[in-house]
Amino acid sequence: MELLQNFSLKNYNTFGIDALAKEFIAVHSVNELKTVLKENASKTKFILGGGSNMLLTKDIDALVIHVDLKGKKIVREDENHVWVESQAGENWHEFVLWTIDQNFGGLENLSLIPGNVGTTPVQNIGAYGTEIKDTFDSCQAMEISTQKMKTFSHSECNFGYRESIFKQEAKDQYIITSVVFKLTKKNHIIKTSYGDIIAELSNQNVAEPTLKDVSNAVIAIRKSKLPDPKELGNSGSFFKNPIVLKSDFEKIHANFPEMKFYEVSATEVKVPAGWLIEQAGFKGKRFGDAGIHKNQALVLVNYGNATGQEILAVSKDIQQTVFEKFGIHIEAEVNVI
Ligand code: EPU
Repeated sequence: MELLQNFSLKNYNTFGIDALAKEFIAVHSVNELKTVLKENASKTKFILGGGSNMLLTKDIDALVIHVDLKGKKIVREDENHVWVESQAGENWHEFVLWTIDQNFGGLENLSLIPGNVGTTPVQNIGAYGTEIKDTFDSCQAMEISTQKMKTFSHSECNFGYRESIFKQEAKDQYIITSVVFKLTKKNHIIKTSYGDIIAELSNQNVAEPTLKDVSNAVIAIRKSKLPDPKELGNSGSFFKNPIVLKSDFEKIHANFPEMKFYEVSATEVKVPAGWLIEQAGFKGKRFGDAGIHKNQALVLVNYGNATGQEILAVSKDIQQTVFEKFGIHIEAEVNVI
């Protein structure tokens, strides 16, 4: 383990923002993590996983701990299911492909999401009709103040739409070190009803899709809409899709009858923020090196040398314009640091 000073985080956040960490250390095991936390008890700490869901708007005046724990294994199985454990630092998409290669079902719709396994429960990542909470079994986490390990069960995580206990009561108190998923060994539940998956599969002439077929379809759809962070800095959806009371929505909808929406409960609807942002005129726009992606208005991009402040300013402009036009507040999904 090497403690580095004034270390650029450009390659450690998918937005590619060139912010500096006052101090930086990568840890490769639970024991190393324990040692670093103990030896630096008095310092302000900042925990960094895959850096795929944050916007750095300033240098980090803290000890940045990069969780780089690797390894994955089967921990239990019965006739129908397998429990697979992955360490927090494994790349999410590589882990998903590994499960599919072994014909374990449940993660295929979550193919090609950037980031590491350890951060997936934090915001309950989701795409194409699946969320992590559908297969999550439990996770292990180290309490920062005591270095004690704790297992969080599914119910303790309080999962919601891009939400969990790790963004609420447990925020900044724990470091997730590994996650266990319960996956199917047979009778896989193939979910193709969301959005473009069926169309993509029929394009490929697939009538009875396997896990791999679904994964390939999701990969093709994501590639067509979402920029690859290696080519164009971004953090996926910058905003959450807003949830609006039906009573308010009906008034808004009367003025904008073409507005898309999905029912989420008897009293609430979800409105696609991408649609609102596109209608507000931002899709594909560029302001210096900060911009809004041309194929998916929910994604803000860094064309090269944008600062976090510049991207933040664009996001505020979008929020304000959307609010003025529709009376709907859209909230950031990424963590603004
Ligand atoms: N739309 C537009 N214009 C746009 C983008 C979208 O009109 O520029 C409309 C689409 O036509 C569609 C609707 O908005 O009717 C929904 O679009 P899409 O299916 O692309 O999904 P989304 O709601 O914009 C969410 C997730 C994505 C996830 C996709 C697919 C959130 C905040 N985002 O986006 O997650 O990949 O569904 O399941 O819930 C992420 O969280 O980083 C992410 C990429």
